[in-house]
Amino acid sequence: MQKIFIVLFFLFIGAQINAQVIHIETKNTSLVFSVSKKGKVYQSHYGGHLKSIKGIEKIQSYISEIYPSFGNGSSDEVAVIVTHSDGTMATDLFYQSHEQKLSDGVQETVVHLKDKKLPFFVDLCFRAYQEENVIEQNVVISHQEKGEVRLDQFASSALAFKAESYYLTHFNGSWAREMHISEEKLSNGVKSIETRRGVRTTEYENPSFVMALNQAASEDNGEVIMGALAWMGNYKLSFQVDDQERCQFIGGINLFASAYTISAGEKFETPRMILTYNSSGKNQASINLHRWARKYNLQDGNAIRPIVLNSWEGAYFNFDAARLKEMMDGAAEMGVEIFVLDDGWFGNKYPRNSDKAGLGDWQVNRKKLPAGIDNLIDYTERKGMKFGIWVEPEMVNPKSELAENHPEWIIQRKNNREPILTRNQLLLDLANPKVQDFVFGIIDNLLSEHSRIAYIKWDANRHIQNFGSTFLDDDKQSHLWIDYSRGLESVFFRLQEKYPGIIFQACSSGGGRVDFSSMKYTHEFWASDDTDPYERLFIQWGTNHIYPPIATAAHVTKSPNHQTGRETSLKFRFDVAFGGRLGMELRPDDLEPEQVDYAKSAIKLYKEIRPVIQFGDLYRLQSPYDSDGFASINYVLPDKSEAILMVYSHEFHRRMERAVVKMKGLDEDALYKITELNKAAKRPHIVFDNQIISGSVLMNTGFKVNLKKPLESAVFKVEKVTGESSAN
Ligand code: DGJ
Repeated sequence: MQKIFIVLFFLFIGAQINAQVIHIETKNTSLVFSVSKKGKVYQSHYGGHLKSIKGIEKIQSYISEIYPSFGNGSSDEVAVIVTHSDGTMATDLFYQSHEQKLSDGVQETVVHLKDKKLPFFVDLCFRAYQEENVIEQNVVISHQEKGEVRLDQFASSALAFKAESYYLTHFNGSWAREMHISEEKLSNGVKSIETRRGVRTTEYENPSFVMALNQAASEDNGEVIMGALAWMGNYKLSFQVDDQERCQFIGGINLFASAYTISAGEKFETPRMILTYNSSGKNQASINLHRWARKYNLQDGNAIRPIVLNSWEGAYFNFDAARLKEMMDGAAEMGVEIFVLDDGWFGNKYPRNSDKAGLGDWQVNRKKLPAGIDNLIDYTERKGMKFGIWVEPEMVNPKSELAENHPEWIIQRKNNREPILTRNQLLLDLANPKVQDFVFGIIDNLLSEHSRIAYIKWDANRHIQNFGSTFLDDDKQSHLWIDYSRGLESVFFRLQEKYPGIIFQACSSGGGRVDFSSMKYTHEFWASDDTDPYERLFIQWGTNHIYPPIATAAHVTKSPNHQTGRETSLKFRFDVAFGGRLGMELRPDDLEPEQVDYAKSAIKLYKEIRPVIQFGDLYRLQSPYDSDGFASINYVLPDKSEAILMVYSHEFHRRMERAVVKMKGLDEDALYKITELNKAAKRPHIVFDNQIISGSVLMNTGFKVNLKKPLESAVFKVEKVTGESSAN
């Protein structure tokens, strides 16, 4: 009975739709909304590009409101829940107007909606990136009601899908195990991906997804929608499959304990939801996001990333100037370009010699570094490198001068409740503008006093937990989650405005801050504290589904690995770190002389091939999740003139020797020379090393790469040969 009612309801609405149609389009995709005679706005299509939209309003096969609201009849997941100033909880949004413009390859659309009865407004803003096939959406909510309005839900995006079945891929894990892939077929009900941790929000679950329609996600087949929320705070992405087998997606800030009141004239702006659709699998969807990020959502996305040596795993807290200089000597000898001094360089009354004290006191430790930072910078520069430094400016140890001087700046539960410590530290209240200025000032002082600092590693090692702000009014405590993230973003923004060109790394106990919001203000992220190359195969595989390799810091560390104890060859460690922004994180003196020689040539090689890795398109060939023990990827320059192929064996499998690789993304009409690089042994891993082979053969015939044991690897350069035709 209910089913019949819903069908009749949809038919009724469908019949009401008139010709007012809003077409948001990129080169290969269309998102279409139709306005009914009554002024309701419905999603008509999200999928492949429509050359003409004529008649779309007549063929409504399913209907979802553009921004479903609570209180107008629906019992499903909604995008907005409001308590209006007169106590009404019903919101019914109607079309007012819309405008569109296209400039510089971006089509901007704003759809203005208003509540039927009250002066409550919702503006839906879309930016459609023509070449990249990415659509970015956010929402601006405002009102002119008599008193304050309380928002209990405020999504960035609502989209409906209609298919026979839905397969949701999401990326989750834990500390040192970030971005592992889970895929599940959705059954009726609601599945949500969310966090309530406030800070370091991507450590366990990432605000991104792949939705595959009608079949499990495949790299090269089937319709997929890939999305990610650009937000550093709590998020929730929910997917509801209803009794009509429709899937309603609602994504945005997590409404958990986050009611937000706004006064008349105030604007509540939601974070951006980034979406891409592809009709032939998820690999191209990833490429869309990578290309878009490099062009629009990553600091200096078109600039080569330098090779870093970070002091953490080589020295931890245990160093002085002499030890650092010895590390700099080794780094320079191997060809490293930036030396980064990690945790432990600051604090005097409470020296930062472990994670127990000193956090918050950003003065150089006079005992460890009596000649100061400039002396280290001088030395680094004499060695031909640049200097970078670690900070964790949102945090404070109770044992610090900062905690003594400004206890009110700490996020805390009221009534003297015991603070909950994580890693012996607490969090500063970035909802407070004074704290924002303090945090900005830490970096501002460092960069203005030491103008040759070229790189800042920004760490954050705990969640919110002690929920409460001495700055926010008692009736606005629930604003903390959102105001913290906005405060943090405003500090990032100010720093980028003042210091363009300084490289920023977003780190948060490893991969706790891997999102498109922090990425907009940074150059790279630390994907994980786990530097074991075997583990990294999985972490980088998941991470690079959404986020680009150029921004994925990947470091070669010691064997046995500090996190897992696993032993691996230096070649394997380099070959895995080659997949992102290469760096090192060890004490160079711990390497044997022949290992130093090997590292030197590997670094030299990476410098030659990094344009392909950092600016090329990433094609996933063989997943480490599949059970044949192999993983392989190749990167291809956009003009298809050069590719780098990487093949790894990660565990023993009896079919190992029979595994074949088929490359992707090459020009099938061209000839390529394939050459093995970074060889550790004389014998190449393929029988046709240095030979000329057609792109078509490399992609379609499949060839054997001779990796016989687990944790072996091979890297190849595949270069177009000009002046010869592939026809024979
Ligand atoms: C956690 C980071 O992920 C590490 O790389 C390192 O910077 C430590 N913090 C330092 O405390």
